[in-house]
Amino acid sequence: MRVLVIGRGGREHAIVWALSKSPKISKLFCAPGNGGIAGLAECVPITELQFEEISTFAKEQAIDLVMVAPDDPLAAGLVDHLESKGIAAFGPRANAAIIEGSKVFMKQLLKKYSIPTAAYESFDAYEPALAYLRSQTAPIVIKADGLAAGKGVTVAQTMEEAEAALKDIMVGQVFGASAGASVVIEEFLTGQEMSLLAFVDGSTVRLMVPSQDHKPVFDNDKGPNTGGMGTYSPLPHIPESIVQEALVNIVQPTADAMVAEGRPFKGVLYAGLILTPNGVKTIEFNARFGDPETQVILPRLKTDLLDIFLAINNGTLAEQPIEWSDQAAVCVIVASPGYPGPYPKGLPITGLDQVQESLVFHAGTAVDENGQIVTNGGRVLGITGLGKDIIEARQKAYADADRIHFEGKHYRTDIAMKALK
Ligand code: AMP
Ligand code: GLY
Repeated sequence: MRVLVIGRGGREHAIVWALSKSPKISKLFCAPGNGGIAGLAECVPITELQFEEISTFAKEQAIDLVMVAPDDPLAAGLVDHLESKGIAAFGPRANAAIIEGSKVFMKQLLKKYSIPTAAYESFDAYEPALAYLRSQTAPIVIKADGLAAGKGVTVAQTMEEAEAALKDIMVGQVFGASAGASVVIEEFLTGQEMSLLAFVDGSTVRLMVPSQDHKPVFDNDKGPNTGGMGTYSPLPHIPESIVQEALVNIVQPTADAMVAEGRPFKGVLYAGLILTPNGVKTIEFNARFGDPETQVILPRLKTDLLDIFLAINNGTLAEQPIEWSDQAAVCVIVASPGYPGPYPKGLPITGLDQVQESLVFHAGTAVDENGQIVTNGGRVLGITGLGKDIIEARQKAYADADRIHFEGKHYRTDIAMKALK
């Protein structure tokens, strides 16, 4: 088969890496890809929202399956576009990807089907939103409705911060007019977070191994939120009964609700969960693989990933064997100086050939005119160590993170420590 993956980050590198092991694939393309993906797939200079260019390329190259990895093209209907041209695509259609694309939709769905989530109100005008907010107390959480590159959520510790966030979203429209046209104001919850991803084919749900992300930029969860500074799997300190509770109370009922709404979800459904003293509750749903969760999940998958994608598209996921390894995986993100604020690009990266024990997934790299790999994004590399347990996987990831250099690189030193306390 000839397969095209859409996207350019560490997640896409991990997906391409997993697919590259499939004996059924004769040719892999990635659009647009990055400096690391180029070693495994032919990178094509077409970007994620160039729908016509993508479908024309897929026709010309006789592509058998287009795997759409990122949120933006899914929400904008790339899968629908490809299907309308007779091209097979993996990922939810726009009417299902809305579970990530609109937080108001997601909250209303969960409320309608009594699926556990934080209590909330939603508003599509500033004045009533402000009046409601002033009747509440901090801490409180303010969320822009639409996609905002992971930056649309403010966990406000004070009312001043909450009012400023609301104003930025609805009046300042800092995430754009559309993403900021509505807001969700919700209850602040406390507890450990867990990313629970599932393969979903309409009503069949098959959980992946659980993982945990680290969003704040600095150790001990200090500093502003990022796209994710590291992940690990399994979660030895979280009992299997909690994972089952999440499946039975949240993930399966959500897939069923989408079917009942006439929006069957086919693809990867990502539940962002929080383990509160009152049970597991939903923070968010994403309509895709997580980044950097994928960089610890797929290295533990023993089954051919292409077989799972095809089973989802054929509606035979219930019969598809899916096997996971017992190994532990820890991914440490190495970031650009300044990230998540402004950062330079084009810094030469050295030491990649010194890496001994880990998988290196490129997130923001490019190859310059001299053939040198350089930085090209905020999150630059994800170093995934694998071992018999979290301790060993951590040691390998950090040893290799130290073998790689670029000016001003930084990473968190406490990835996976929550599992070891
Ligand atoms: P999101 O962009 O939706 O993943 O949210 C970013 C982060 O904000 C989450 O990973 C949580 O740490 C935090 N967060 C979101 N909603 C809540 C909530 N209701 N209570 C506490 N923290 C939250
Ligand atoms: N790791 C968080 C996300 O992919 O949204």
